[in-house]
Amino acid sequence: MNKASTILLLLLCMGCAQTTTPPQESETTQNTTAPASQPAAAKPQSTDPEMDKFINDLLAKMTLEEKIGQLNLVSVGFDVTGPIVSENVDENIRKGNVGGVFNTFTPVAVRKLQEFAVNNTRHKIPLLFGYDVIHGHRTIFPMPLGLASSWDMQAIERSARIAAEEATADGLNWVFSPMVDIARDPRWGRVAEGAGEDPWLGSRVAEAMVRGYQGDDLTLPNTAMACVKHFALYGAAEAGRDYGTVDMSLQRMFNEYMAPYKAALDAGAGSVMTSFNEINGVPATGNRWLMTELLRDQWGFDGFVVTDYTAINEMMAHGVGNEGEVAALALKAGVDMDMVGELFLKELGAQVKNGKVTEEEINLACRRVLEAKYKLGLFQDPYRYINEERAKNTMMKPEFREAARDIARKSMVLLKNEKNALPLKPSGTIALIGPLARNQRDLIGNWSGAGDWKQAVSVEQGIRNAVGSKVRINYAKGANITDDAQMIRRLNAHGGLLELDKRSSEAMIKEAVQVARNSDVVVAVVGEAQGMSGEAASRADIGLPGQQLALLKALKATGKPLVIVLMNGRPLTLNWEHENANAILETWFAGTEAGNAIADVLFGSYNPSGKLTMTFPRHVGQVPIFYNAKNTGRPFNGEELNKYTSRYMDVPNEPLYPFGHGLSYTTFQYSKPQLSKTTLKGTELLEIQVDVRNTGNYDGEEVVQLYVQDVVGSSTRPLKELKGFQKITLKKGESKTVTFKLTADDLKFYNNEMQYVYEPGEFRVFVGTSSRDVQEAGFRLE
Ligand code: BGC
Repeated sequence: MNKASTILLLLLCMGCAQTTTPPQESETTQNTTAPASQPAAAKPQSTDPEMDKFINDLLAKMTLEEKIGQLNLVSVGFDVTGPIVSENVDENIRKGNVGGVFNTFTPVAVRKLQEFAVNNTRHKIPLLFGYDVIHGHRTIFPMPLGLASSWDMQAIERSARIAAEEATADGLNWVFSPMVDIARDPRWGRVAEGAGEDPWLGSRVAEAMVRGYQGDDLTLPNTAMACVKHFALYGAAEAGRDYGTVDMSLQRMFNEYMAPYKAALDAGAGSVMTSFNEINGVPATGNRWLMTELLRDQWGFDGFVVTDYTAINEMMAHGVGNEGEVAALALKAGVDMDMVGELFLKELGAQVKNGKVTEEEINLACRRVLEAKYKLGLFQDPYRYINEERAKNTMMKPEFREAARDIARKSMVLLKNEKNALPLKPSGTIALIGPLARNQRDLIGNWSGAGDWKQAVSVEQGIRNAVGSKVRINYAKGANITDDAQMIRRLNAHGGLLELDKRSSEAMIKEAVQVARNSDVVVAVVGEAQGMSGEAASRADIGLPGQQLALLKALKATGKPLVIVLMNGRPLTLNWEHENANAILETWFAGTEAGNAIADVLFGSYNPSGKLTMTFPRHVGQVPIFYNAKNTGRPFNGEELNKYTSRYMDVPNEPLYPFGHGLSYTTFQYSKPQLSKTTLKGTELLEIQVDVRNTGNYDGEEVVQLYVQDVVGSSTRPLKELKGFQKITLKKGESKTVTFKLTADDLKFYNNEMQYVYEPGEFRVFVGTSSRDVQEAGFRLE
């Protein structure tokens, strides 16, 4: 078969219900035969014969209705993330129409529902209890994009471990996390929930989160089953509009988007959530190529798949069938559990009768749900996660808050620091200005589980805790986060708690300017409201909202040093801010301990070490913009008058802050990378060494980054791809040699025939402090 017809076959088969040719893993450039796909009903034997026997016996006793009941996931509680809510829940649980519940927690509430299920149904099958534990349960950590910016996998794992400790103490056994969608479009509000734009780094974060939640033993009462979401490609919505259409080449899909899902599964994640989007014409929730052929047959996933919120019903709006048809489509695609929509419950019985689905297919879905309960130890003890005493002793322990403070400061990124404007001296008078300076609500971010914003430490409080009466603080609000009445109404309809200061913006700015004039330095705490990012929170303009930029301009005009502390859920466009501020500290929404952590950084008791994991554009028109882009045939080479090159006429191609950017209070000097060989053979190891010296005045941490370019390929290859990093600590004046190891395996990619191969030829290696600031060496692969 020639190349063109292979691709045609791949494209034709995506989403169809027949055997397709999934991408192939290959050791060398040789072609390999793709594994044949399994029919949906044929359940491969698990590796646990005891579990198989238990489930076989149970399934044999269950009626069709009881089996369908297990496929139904209902929402009980106050957290609603979709347009409809579950009704008649108690009654449905008693009738055996429910396999799991989400949005209910606390030992008392969970016990009540678990008792309904266990005491009233024939087979006493316990319920799963799920929840969106995204960046902490009660102790809230920085929003996920911030967590990733720490580049500290141990700290990230620990945040997930603590989240699981608290969530399971609250009766939960299933967390809807990690969200591992690669995102390159900061207009999309859900960039806040992921690890950013890089598939390699995203994979490391995904693994760390799964390890943190699940530990080594899912039956322990303090571990919870992870749910990898949103499978797949949800972050590639057209124009950054949430729930938007996704359409991309297979090569891009597998080289640039799929790795983090796979990494989370390889780390053992027990469940997968479908995504709302379509993938090349077929909604993910009804996409058999995705959910069965790729996920299970090729990747070997043996857990269960839950839909996203009403995603089966939404396939009607996508335009692929009526209620009965979309229910059948989802089941046949390989979906096991229906979140909130209740179409499995309503339609599958009839679909069996009319022969559109088989009881075998329902058995398979039911088996997978029952297996999850078995793996969690729920059949041994349905109440194993319910323990009032543990709940009392676990939530928001001081050591958990300390961990939250630690990772919060690690997540912060020093974007600019001119003439050492930071750290601040703990003396004199600070003008603390801005709508987020006293704020608590927004600090815990948009998706803060069972977090209580009233427990969050504001920036003002954090500064007072840090420097007490040594520093005089003059406060002025200066501006509202936004003055857009409609936006405020929408934010407040979903828990925004935005209070509009009734004064005119001129009056507020005037007051702030006065305060600034009477102070030594201005610390302006500005940004977005938490509800401006997260689900269904896309923005077309990603600058500072409202009058905040006008406020900053007025503050600048006072001539006082201007330090900007940013809080936001996405990369923003910050050109004026970059040109004019003396220092800019990106703090994201940093969680319960935000204010303390920010004060730690502002006064230098912690030297910032975070690095961006998502590019900050200069202009929204550059979006999507990402570091691992390709060259094009007409790259812009800086020749201004050379018209026919790939560039904008009105803004540079370069972003404002590239992937990997982040400053420290100290400076680091890098040597040129030294390679252990200049020719690498297939099975050999290449060592790349670089000396990094702390040449500044503070001890500090540095994220040493390794990138590779495959210069000539059978397909075009990105200009740079992250292949490794090390976060090191260097005392003032200290120097360390950092060694990276690469093999040919690290250089593999999906070629045009969707074989996963490395290709001999020329490679460039880059090591440095960001994706832009690197030094280079080269080698040949034979
Ligand atoms: C979101 C998911 C979430 C689910 C349950 C959906 O709207 O897309 O990320 O897990 O709701 O709350």
